[in-house]
Amino acid sequence: EREIILNPSILSADFTVLGEQLKALEACGCRWVHIDVMDGTFVPPVSFGEPVITSIRKKSGLFFDVHMMTEHPDTHIDALKKAGADLVCVHAEACTHLDRVLGAIREAGMRTGVALNPATPLSVLDYVLDKTDMVLVMTVNPGFGGQSYLPAMTGKIRALRNMLEKAGHPDIRIEVDGGINAGTLQTVLDAGADVLVMGSAVFQGDPAENFRKMQALVR
Ligand code: DX5
Ligand code: ZN
Repeated sequence: EREIILNPSILSADFTVLGEQLKALEACGCRWVHIDVMDGTFVPPVSFGEPVITSIRKKSGLFFDVHMMTEHPDTHIDALKKAGADLVCVHAEACTHLDRVLGAIREAGMRTGVALNPATPLSVLDYVLDKTDMVLVMTVNPGFGGQSYLPAMTGKIRALRNMLEKAGHPDIRIEVDGGINAGTLQTVLDAGADVLVMGSAVFQGDPAENFRKMQALVR
């Protein structure tokens, strides 16, 4: 049985107390944290970048899953490694040379992820599975927290799970991001997702308490 990972997204956090909130999450069994880097070009907002990752790295032993919503993510690989990223997830739509970028992330000593916007077909993955540790199926259009899950993505998750089994890569993780909460969690688990990003569902209110409630739902 594959372990299900609940992955809080700090995009919806209170940044004035981020270190404390991460500590509290870690204390109740959280192991990963999802870090949304946005450049104002690939997606409209600007969020934060390497300096913020560097400073939370000093306060947290969590696995840092960095979701790059930027153009030219290849130009950030060394800085992300230095800042303390454990996994770098790039958007297929932002990479002209996806194969090369994934190779460079591994070369730098990090795990790789490929993110797909809702309209992007799974076929872009066909020739990069050997270099991929995780596929991120965006279940909303990226850029903002608090949006509603797109129901059409359930079939996409299921198709990806089948594709990975058939291709001989059953260990590649499937992450879902956007609109995941108590109401949609079972749907994405049933479809085959095993890394569940949660922004507003964890950080609206008390993060540790919300995390424990969500954890109880996946057990
Ligand atoms: C959105 C980001 C998400 C965001 C999810 O583009 O990639 O990680 O934080 O927020 P929720 O869980 O509120 O939909
Ligand atoms: Zn994200």
